[in-house]
Amino acid sequence: MFKGALFDLDGVIADTAVYHFAAWRQLVKDHFDADLPDSLEEKTKGVSREDSLRVILDYLDITVPEDTFVALAAEKNDAYVKALDAVTEADILPGITDFISNLRDQGVKLALASASKNGPLILEKLGLSDAFDAIADPAKVAAGKPAPDIFIAAAQGLGLQSTDCIGVEDAVAGVTAINASGAFSVAVGGDELSHANLRFDGTADLDLEAIKAAYQNH
Ligand code: BG6
Ligand code: MG
Repeated sequence: MFKGALFDLDGVIADTAVYHFAAWRQLVKDHFDADLPDSLEEKTKGVSREDSLRVILDYLDITVPEDTFVALAAEKNDAYVKALDAVTEADILPGITDFISNLRDQGVKLALASASKNGPLILEKLGLSDAFDAIADPAKVAAGKPAPDIFIAAAQGLGLQSTDCIGVEDAVAGVTAINASGAFSVAVGGDELSHANLRFDGTADLDLEAIKAAYQNH
């Protein structure tokens, strides 16, 4: 049996992924009078604020000076944090509250392994801060997802090896990061996540017994 569960946040615990991309879309509209296609969203999922902005500027084929880059990232975050005002416990994704309490009942320790610097604020708004034993700080890891660093740091925060943990993700870069860390990857989402050790279509389908069995056979 695994001893730790390392959670992504946006798109796994809470339905906040939509707010991220909406904030990017607004920024791009305001500054460059351009639209972003739906297909670009996956490339901004799981990756840091700065890497998301690089993906977007790359798509638009726009180069900006460093100070503009910093200002754009800050403006997006201001809009995103404003959108978070509306976030409550009602934004916890289906099945997650039960999944978290079942894990805790079975003695599994929980850590947050999110690329988001807003992670602690969001957990607070969701009323989930006490459920987590550790929060890995994305500002302190050398490389963001798809590198394994944040998952390794989250396991360390629990005093565990990543091989003794499962990681839960909704993003391509996130699943790659879990796999590279040595933890057992559990994905919630579509076929683009087929590189996970185990995949469920959505958070409501997360099945702890199935995860335990698959972890044991791994
Ligand atoms: C991840 C999101 O959880 O956090 C990304 O999936 C986002 O889309 C990243 O870019 C960084 O978030 P923040 O809140 O620090 O800008
Ligand atoms: Mg995510």
